[in-house]
Amino acid sequence: MVGATGAVGTTILEVMRERAFAADEIVPFASERSAGRTLAHGDTELTVQVLSPDAIQGFDLALFSAGSATSEEWGPRFSEAGAVVVDNSSYWRTHDDVPLVVSEVNPEALDSHRGIVANPNCSTAQMVVALKPIQKAVGIERLVVSTYQSVSGTGQKAVEELRGQAQAVLAGTEVPGAAMYPHQIAFNVLPQVETFKEGDDYTTEERKMMRETRKILGAEDLPISATCARVPVYIGHSESVNVQTKSPLSADECRELLQGTPGLQVIDAPGEGLYPTAIDAAGQDDVLVGRIRQDPSHERCLNMWVVGDNLRKGAALNAVQVAELIVERGLLRSARV
Ligand SMILES: NC(=O)c1ccc[n+]([C@@H]2O[C@H](COP(=O)([O-])OP(=O)(O)OC[C@H]3O[C@@H](n4cnc5c(N)ncnc54)[C@H](OP(=O)(O)O)[C@@H]3O)[C@@H](O)[C@H]2O)c1
Repeated sequence: MVGATGAVGTTILEVMRERAFAADEIVPFASERSAGRTLAHGDTELTVQVLSPDAIQGFDLALFSAGSATSEEWGPRFSEAGAVVVDNSSYWRTHDDVPLVVSEVNPEALDSHRGIVANPNCSTAQMVVALKPIQKAVGIERLVVSTYQSVSGTGQKAVEELRGQAQAVLAGTEVPGAAMYPHQIAFNVLPQVETFKEGDDYTTEERKMMRETRKILGAEDLPISATCARVPVYIGHSESVNVQTKSPLSADECRELLQGTPGLQVIDAPGEGLYPTAIDAAGQDDVLVGRIRQDPSHERCLNMWVVGDNLRKGAALNAVQVAELIVERGLLRSARV
């Protein structure tokens, strides 16, 4: 595991324990800052190591959550050393020869892997779990999505930034300046997730959502419009999704379709105050969907509210599920030889 001390890495360890992931040995890697630190894992303690050409030998699987630069450099090295890499960073996601996989949506894409498999960005992963059954049943013509993303999506330091600012606001003391975000995040909403590349008025997160959704759904021409906002929530991304279908689908039919889908829960009785919230999703494996309703402005459009734990289905859980599929399908390097 590379990035074992981070927000995603610690959740990967938790998910592996919960799912009793069968591994002879788990070795946690992180930066030099964490070398020698111990991480509790069930009854054992794992000692954090630093990446080096010698230390990366002999692994079947390498789960990465240490950022793009580390994945770019060390992903191919682990792969050359015989491991299959499951990468949470954005670096490999849009490479043509790297499958981008959500376990319930396109597991078949794993069959063509060449040593590196990518995990999508968190807001995309939860959304496609809800979209796939609709695409399969009636086709999707166009998507408009607005996200409300939690700070753990940026990592551990951003969680600390929100906590520190919120405590200061409530105590009436001077609010610590923004470091992880361009503005104060406590008691605020920022219409910017990640960065604006020169000449682009969409953020890199919005571009990722649009590109990755098309790749996972195998719909390269699908028109998608995304707006991503950061909200002062610790865990759980919420999304307003407007789906224009190819054939008609009523809200009731959609509810029924999604109810039977693995990895999804429909919570949809808004009159009784029942709809998914980020707090409900935090710590849960399932993606939660509610507020399914007809769009009054278009006869083949539905609106829905999709919420997921960004650290789980958005990252750690999907990475572990993909790793399980790689083993089950005989796709480890050692199994292929
Ligand atoms: N957070 C999410 O919801 C989410 C969802 C999907 C994908 N991702 C992706 O997952 C990755 C990690 O995100 P995160 O939120 O877990 O970030 P994070 O909390 O900041 O953790 C980063 C991890 O990477 C390690 N690291 C940093 N530089 C390293 C280096 N040079 N060599 C080895 N390890 C290094 C850190 O180790 P130290 O503790 O030693 O610094 C830490 O374990 C990112 O690529 C992110 O885009 C995150």
